[in-house]
Amino acid sequence: MSGKTITNLVHTTNLPWPFAEDQEQFQYTVNVEPARVTKKTAAGEWGANIVDLGGDEYLHIMTERRRILEADPSRVQILPGMMPACWDLLMYYLRDLSVSHPDVMHLEENGDVIRWRNDLLRTDQVFAIGDEQSLPYDPMTFLGREIPDDLLLVKERGGQLYFDAGLVTFAAAWSVTFDVGMSFREIHGPVPRLTGEGITSRAEQFLMRLPADRVYRRVNWTLSASGSRKLDISLEELPEWGKDIPRLVADRDFGKLQLRIELEHFIRLPMSGAVTFSIRTFMASLEEIKAIPAWRDQLAQILAATPEDIATYKGIIDYRDEAIRWLRSS
Ligand code: HEM
Repeated sequence: MSGKTITNLVHTTNLPWPFAEDQEQFQYTVNVEPARVTKKTAAGEWGANIVDLGGDEYLHIMTERRRILEADPSRVQILPGMMPACWDLLMYYLRDLSVSHPDVMHLEENGDVIRWRNDLLRTDQVFAIGDEQSLPYDPMTFLGREIPDDLLLVKERGGQLYFDAGLVTFAAAWSVTFDVGMSFREIHGPVPRLTGEGITSRAEQFLMRLPADRVYRRVNWTLSASGSRKLDISLEELPEWGKDIPRLVADRDFGKLQLRIELEHFIRLPMSGAVTFSIRTFMASLEEIKAIPAWRDQLAQILAATPEDIATYKGIIDYRDEAIRWLRSS
């Protein structure tokens, strides 16, 4: 795996910039759009594939993912009855990867016997679909060790969606162990405006009607709760990162603040009917963003216009004015 540190890498070229070209305000909406559509940005482009291998960043993320899973197996939660959906998830992604990245990812299918090769991680695994003994891990963990996205599976019961399985190592200040088993409405209950303005129920309706042949995506953003490029800011790791922002604000080191962007995909799995919600986390520091005038100006404007309750929920209320001043200073 790459010996480079993440600070040596270019983070902006494949960044899914989360704001529309002329956007000046921010409100929560059901901001879903068809996936696998390339979007150009001020610094590059993103979105051609469901899984973004992101150059050297991929190897860094996978090293982090594997380290966290080995240190804390509770980041994988699979409720009873969800194993068929996990196999479905594994096969969906392996097929997609082999088509989207044929130069480095290879899938051979011979009935239920599968050979998977990932040249970037040097994986070469033969297994039989449905036979857990033929894999070194359960199917969701096997997949999570191959792709950088966090993986959540939701199932419909009694007219509601429930979060019934997940592999999450990069949660933005939440916990998979705490949230697993909760309904879609319970999870989104604490988010200001979301339920009150009908967004939660519209999003749930959208997901319950998601067709099996079309993949959708949405982009979400926040300023990271850690000033370093720490991917794992889950509640489990709070003692590790809890003091990062107060320290950074005291040092007035705003260039190190990270814009944290989640690129989320929604996929109806063909065999089990479960819905996948995947989250790929991208980051760029304010220093990197300041180097791109269109992004610098827009982020400063959006931060200033974000309503107070949303800024509080995102954890940025105490320092956003200073961050805006830093962005606008020459
Ligand atoms: C169109 C569908 C969806 C929309 C519009 C939506 C919207 C949101 C929004 C606006 C937030 C607050 C994030 C922030 O401000 O940084 C959020 C948080 C979250 N969402 Fe969703 N979401 C959707 C689908 C899902 C699905 C399918 C799941 C799977 C269980 C999910 C799980 C979560 C979790 C775990 C959080 C973090 C909650 C916390 O902070 O404790 N969302 N969502």
